[in-house]
Amino acid sequence: MSTTVSSFIIFFFFFTIFNIPSVSEAIGVNWGTMASHPLSPVKVVKLLKSNNINKVKLFDAKPDVLQALSGSNIGVTVGVPNVMLKSLNSSRKAADSWVHDNVTRYVSNGGGNAKIEYVAIGDEPFLKSYGEQFHPFTIGAAMNIQAALKKAKLDNKVKVVVPCSFDSFESRSNSSTEVHFRSDLNKTMIELLTFLDKHGSPFFVTISPFVTFLETKNISLDFSLFKETAHPHKFSRKTYKNSFDLSYDTVITVLSKVGFSNMEIVVSKIGWPTDGAANATSNLAETFMKGLMNHLHSSSGTPLRPHQPPHETYIYSLLDEDQRSITAGNFERHWGLFTFDGQVKYHVDLGQGSKSLVNAENVEYLSSKWCVVNNNEDLSNATAKALEACANADCTALSSGGSCFNITWPSNISYAFNSYYQQHDQKAESCDFGGLGLITTVDPSLDHCRFPIEINTSHAEIYRVCSFLWMILLVITLLV
Ligand SMILES: *[C@@H]1O[C@H](CO)[C@@H](O)[C@H](O)[C@H]1NC(C)=O
Ligand SMILES: *[C@@H]1O[C@H](CO)[C@@H](O)[C@H](O)[C@H]1NC(C)=O
Ligand SMILES: *[C@@H]1O[C@H](CO)[C@@H](O)[C@H](O)[C@H]1NC(C)=O
Ligand SMILES: *[C@@H]1O[C@H](CO)[C@@H](O)[C@H](O)[C@H]1NC(C)=O
Ligand SMILES: *[C@@H]1O[C@H](CO)[C@@H](O)[C@H](O)[C@H]1NC(C)=O
Ligand SMILES: *[C@@H]1O[C@H](CO)[C@@H](O)[C@H](O)[C@H]1NC(C)=O
Ligand SMILES: *[C@@H]1O[C@H](CO)[C@@H](O)[C@H](O)[C@H]1NC(C)=O
Ligand SMILES: *[C@@H]1O[C@H](CO)[C@@H](O)[C@H](O)[C@H]1NC(C)=O
Ligand SMILES: *[C@@H]1O[C@H](CO)[C@@H](O)[C@H](O)[C@H]1NC(C)=O
Ligand SMILES: *[C@@H]1O[C@H](CO)[C@@H](O)[C@H](O)[C@H]1NC(C)=O
Repeated sequence: MSTTVSSFIIFFFFFTIFNIPSVSEAIGVNWGTMASHPLSPVKVVKLLKSNNINKVKLFDAKPDVLQALSGSNIGVTVGVPNVMLKSLNSSRKAADSWVHDNVTRYVSNGGGNAKIEYVAIGDEPFLKSYGEQFHPFTIGAAMNIQAALKKAKLDNKVKVVVPCSFDSFESRSNSSTEVHFRSDLNKTMIELLTFLDKHGSPFFVTISPFVTFLETKNISLDFSLFKETAHPHKFSRKTYKNSFDLSYDTVITVLSKVGFSNMEIVVSKIGWPTDGAANATSNLAETFMKGLMNHLHSSSGTPLRPHQPPHETYIYSLLDEDQRSITAGNFERHWGLFTFDGQVKYHVDLGQGSKSLVNAENVEYLSSKWCVVNNNEDLSNATAKALEACANADCTALSSGGSCFNITWPSNISYAFNSYYQQHDQKAESCDFGGLGLITTVDPSLDHCRFPIEINTSHAEIYRVCSFLWMILLVITLLV
């Protein structure tokens, strides 16, 4: 073998090795903040760092969150909320100020120190259940944000993407060989792909084996959980051993059909919930996440893209959020790898190097007090009171298949009362319920059913008061 050839081979070898991004770099988490008592952004960033999570996808651009991420070296996707798409489509000026207020001032040339990598236009604006609410404005908004980034000279650093829901795809028959974009989206999707291609941006798409399992009779739990023993599926003359690959290649097939076979894919949401539905348990979530991580770590890719795992994968979600909409199901509030207070639900190697995930530290809770039903009262109205409480609080664990589904009456009433009481910061009047409530210091939690105590979020207010006073002081100083 001539030296040129061998040095070429050696070069190629190293080139290949160094070109494969390490898996931990390609795995991120979605960090949502729709919680009544969210963990403080500073604690969340510590949690991310201690678990070696290097990328986060946000659903908005909250100043305290972006400040906490500043200097952390964590790659960030900021989100444009769906309700802003209409104004961002119709006004370039609005897009300029959005980028100025929510991107420029946090990145290095704007004086900040956050590593913003993507701006996500909307959160699944094409969801079928939204109808035409956001869809007509999405591409226009994306174009205006792109132009605004260019103006701010950030377009080579920050890419504009649109997170698409998996229901953007449809199959014409049960055999699922004939897949295509949902017909009302066909035109928009081609515009989107053309836009992404032009700017070298990836296609962000949700893949949800859990929801696919719920909605597709023919998909088994084992197939969804990466079990070796699962019955394989055939699709486009290829054999599929798990639901993730099948969904992923469905996306590839549809993109290829319209001429974008090389489009880079980012899995923008993937996970398994742990409560609020049958098969939504920590055990099964652990099995799913381990299967997914092994699959991504192995870099085997899928039948249509062998040895090419997704460019990036964002786990849905980092934390449970007790104020997420439950129109799609009670499990929606339980997607977290961690509970609302940053405690590990199960262990999985996200690429953090060690086998165990690490809990959030120094979480400050409200007092060890719970609100339960007073058994000495006439409880004939208790069920009605509990339902009222549930309308405002979070009773998803009581639903069929949930962790508290099998607790007996009137413990389930206590669960509802307590949730309301905690969400209202343990104010005495929030444990009244027409005289049926009773505050106790004895933890009413049962084996599988935890009666949570919320996080003490009141110091956040003190901080706000302090910074307000500080500003007044500054103004006075400037005036003097
Ligand atoms: C989006 O904005 C453009 C430019 O202002 C406007 O012409 C168009 O009608 C808008 N789209 C929708 C659906 O309103
Ligand atoms: C971003 O910027 C806009 C326009 O300046 C502002 O109204 C908005 O509150 C900011 N935050 C988010 C999450 O859009
Ligand atoms: C799909 O399968 C279901 C039962 O699994 C059947 O009722 C339905 O008619 C089928 N639809 C088509 C288009 O084949
Ligand atoms: C979608 O659009 C493409 C390109 O314009 C076209 O080839 C295809 O037939 C369309 N598909 C549907 C289902 O309308
Ligand atoms: C269900 O899956 C099996 C195995 O892949 C396949 O042979 C069968 O056609 C599917 N049935 C339907 C109704 O899609
Ligand atoms: C999944 O849920 C179904 C319906 O409740 C149940 O019969 C089955 O045992 C569950 N499977 C596992 C593995 O938990
Ligand atoms: C919550 O935090 C505030 C401010 O730090 C403190 O004054 C209050 O005592 C705390 N409440 C509990 C129950 O620890
Ligand atoms: C139950 O509620 C009804 C209507 O609000 C009320 O008239 C009744 O006195 C209540 N019963 C008890 C035992 O509190
Ligand atoms: C409730 O369900 C759990 C498993 O989900 C079980 O371990 C526990 O014994 C059940 N409790 C009752 C009272 O049936
Ligand atoms: C509690 O359980 C009783 C009896 O099973 C049921 O009628 C009631 O609706 C439940 N209440 C709640 C809030 O789940």
